[in-house]
Amino acid sequence: MNPKPTDKLRQSTPKEEYSTAHRSFLRHLIKLLSLFAVAVILWPVLRFITFKFPKKTVIVIPGFRKLKGMIHKDGAYVNIIDDKIMVLSDRCTHLGCVIRYDPISRQFVCPCHGSKFDLEGKRISGPAKHPLKKLFYRVDKKGNLTILLPLSLEK
Ligand code: FES
Repeated sequence: MNPKPTDKLRQSTPKEEYSTAHRSFLRHLIKLLSLFAVAVILWPVLRFITFKFPKKTVIVIPGFRKLKGMIHKDGAYVNIIDDKIMVLSDRCTHLGCVIRYDPISRQFVCPCHGSKFDLEGKRISGPAKHPLKKLFYRVDKKGNLTILLPLSLEK
């Protein structure tokens, strides 16, 4: 029995082989790009789903009612005069250096560029343009002072 002309194995030409390889390469490239696109879309979604609010730093000064004067603790200056409390960040508003309290001049002085602030945190001089940041605080029934440091001021 003679094979029909259509049953003959047809050899592919070099041009057809090139075309087949080219198509295969393009298919793989499209698959890779699709995977990349899915990853680009899923990454922020996964970050959003797994996001946890960072904990805020809390500074506690136990029994603060017995204390007087200026207290510097963990990023905050607490000035206690009788019943009046002033809680300020210890970060200079110029470039964020830690300020120091000068008890002689009764001012806060930045060691980096010399900005000065009064006891209420108002700017007196120097390159800083803004007053010191006032921090939220509360006093509980036991007389503990709790200060909340904003995330931007955490160390
Ligand atoms: Fe305080 Fe510049 S960082 S004056």
